[in-house]
Amino acid sequence: MLIDSHGRKITYLRVSITDRCNLRCFYCSSKDSFAKLPAEEILSYEELYRVIQAAVSVGIKRIRLTGGEPLVRKDFVSFIANLAKIPGLEDLALTTNGLLLASLAESLKKAGLRRVNISLDTLDRERYKEICGVDALDEVLSGIKKALEVGFSPVKINMVIMRGINDDEVVEMARLTLEEPLEVRFIEFMPIGTGASWEENLFIPIAETEKKLKEAFGKLLPAPKIGAGPAKVFSLPGAKGSIGFISAISNHFCNKCNRLRLTPEGRLRLCLFSDEEIDLKPSLREDSSEKALKEAFIKAVAKKPSQRSLDLFPRRLMRSIGG
Ligand code: GTP
Ligand code: 5AD
Ligand code: SF4
Repeated sequence: MLIDSHGRKITYLRVSITDRCNLRCFYCSSKDSFAKLPAEEILSYEELYRVIQAAVSVGIKRIRLTGGEPLVRKDFVSFIANLAKIPGLEDLALTTNGLLLASLAESLKKAGLRRVNISLDTLDRERYKEICGVDALDEVLSGIKKALEVGFSPVKINMVIMRGINDDEVVEMARLTLEEPLEVRFIEFMPIGTGASWEENLFIPIAETEKKLKEAFGKLLPAPKIGAGPAKVFSLPGAKGSIGFISAISNHFCNKCNRLRLTPEGRLRLCLFSDEEIDLKPSLREDSSEKALKEAFIKAVAKKPSQRSLDLFPRRLMRSIGG
């Protein structure tokens, strides 16, 4: 069991398997650089497997695969099938932009993937193109439909709320939960991604969104939470699905933090907001023993900060952290 120096149990590892992506969301990459990591820097599936196996052996129980966009990586389904067999791994989940999900959902489910969270900031085609740089709303909607059809439950939708960009759509997004067992999550825009400054004018506190939803639907009812993320979950009266609030800025949840992150080039990141990382490459490529990897996890957990700091903007871009 991994327990950090602030008494938190660390049971969850978010693994960014690539910095490549088939979208160009403005908040995820810097404006002037879509530069990618050199291919040889990115951990191979075999290396990722060894890290995850070592993580599970020291007490990690949940793995979430992120990116970039994980589904653009070749042979992803076979990788999932291998991970699904690791004894002691209780949850295997994916965060995706959904573009390739319609064609892969069925084989992912068969391979043993348990849960899928899909990013979707707008239901308007033109807007989608403006935010994400590609005209692909229809593909994402088909991906969501397919994920429900093949039986992923729940299917979570991530909407990052940005003032003047998509905040007029929160009621429409919440309405999706009335007829389908979706969990639509409203996420505060975080100062990560541009690599330079925080576009603070885009930020909307969750309380404002909550108020809008209460005005539209009346009371929000507490609902059960599935997964181990930071969302607070409610449901609209009579709804099949639920809604979640992720208040990373206005009311952070660091005292309950249960996670570490792995970057595509094999660095353990101690906090989403901190560039402090521990490089696993030497343990993977030089020492190559499981003991060294386990020790790296123990060291990372011991150094985990008590909470996020907003004093420095992380240098790393969101697409190589994976949220
Ligand atoms: P589950 O609850 O297990 O389904 O997953 P999750 O909500 O942790 O994962 P997801 O990848 O869907 O992330 C949703 C949002 O929460 C993204 O905007 C993430 O950046 C944010 N998020 C996830 N973990 C953390 C965290 O530890 N700290 C902060 N500040 N934000 C987080
Ligand atoms: N603030 C909040 N959430 C973000 N995401 C990406 N960038 C940000 C940001 N600056 C979300 C994506 C994805 C999840 C992993 O992180 O929309 O759903
Ligand atoms: Fe954990 Fe850092 Fe997220 Fe806080 S901001 S919950 S400490 S990862």
